[in-house]
Amino acid sequence: VGNGLANTPQMGWNSWNYFGCKINEKVIRETADALISTGLAKLGYRYVNLDDCWSEVQRDSKGQLVPDSKTFPSGIKALADYVHSKGLKLGIYSDAGAFTCAVRPGSLFHESDDAKSFASWGVDYLKYDNCFNLGIEPEKRYPPMRDALNATGHTIFYSLCEWGVNDPALWADKVGNSWRTTNDINDSWASMTETADINDKWASYAGPGGWNDPDALEVGNGGMTYHEYRAHFSIWALMKSPLLVGCDVRNMTAETFEIISNEEVIAVNQDPLGVQGRKVYAYGPDGCFQVWAGPLSEQRMSVVLWNRCSKSGTITAKWGTLGLESSTSVSIKDLWKHEYVSQNSVSSFSARVDAHACEMYIFTPSTLSRSTY
Ligand code: DGJ
Repeated sequence: VGNGLANTPQMGWNSWNYFGCKINEKVIRETADALISTGLAKLGYRYVNLDDCWSEVQRDSKGQLVPDSKTFPSGIKALADYVHSKGLKLGIYSDAGAFTCAVRPGSLFHESDDAKSFASWGVDYLKYDNCFNLGIEPEKRYPPMRDALNATGHTIFYSLCEWGVNDPALWADKVGNSWRTTNDINDSWASMTETADINDKWASYAGPGGWNDPDALEVGNGGMTYHEYRAHFSIWALMKSPLLVGCDVRNMTAETFEIISNEEVIAVNQDPLGVQGRKVYAYGPDGCFQVWAGPLSEQRMSVVLWNRCSKSGTITAKWGTLGLESSTSVSIKDLWKHEYVSQNSVSSFSARVDAHACEMYIFTPSTLSRSTY
């Protein structure tokens, strides 16, 4: 990509999952304020990202994009200045087609003009959608905007939203900082689990500089239970997905805040090793008892025991499936209870997990058992 960004997955907020087209500059400013006042910004949630519907339905007489005069009367530059004054970054949205999905002007064949507009407004991030694409391959439509953004001389995060078309994991690491592996998520258990499974297939292609994107978070939007949302957040973190909060952060419940502010889970997502964790083992009815795991820096490992069955059960992670010698002694920290649950497990670890819930751990193998004495 060439912009040096995305050493770890991007974190922030995106307007679409909760607000859809009902955005305006007041909502965005209040969201920036809330990211600061709740402490979420300090935990890493820095990008405040506009999605579709920020622009007028027509370009101006010079062919330039203009912000919707009713909803963004102060303009995007003023909004970026405001967001920057809080120490945050502003993201904007356009489309690699003739129109956006909500039928605002698209940037296809306007890449240079639009990238210059974004840069002149001080925008830090672009999400680039896939509607009205005239049947042209994404591999042809997405690189011109990368080149246009880079040519502005501003450092702009480039998030591809091509819905998994033409297997972007295979080509998009040279184009963007993240690429969508799936269709849109919705606020339901079925959609969330399916999205996770599709994203999982592309695990080996993610890494520092370019990440698989299974879409923004639904945590806090009301369609899932506390435990389902906790599983959603845990798995997104383990998969090194972008952590873009998709709820109304001005009015969060304590439970929503507890989930998205879990520093140890965030640290798994932001671990410098940057290896996407994956589903390593599934058993039971329809494979609904699942072990997801991935390596972390300092020889550690993150492990999620995820119960996707409709009743509670005991899930076991065997060292063999985690790539550990069975004699290795492992200390295990529970990232939701915030306590060590074992100092010296060998060969396997089991926990009772409620239906649709997960438990998440950091495994630290002891150096003693790994050395060859
Ligand atoms: C489709 C994208 O996949 C969504 O994330 C969102 O950006 C909408 N378009 C907006 O119209």
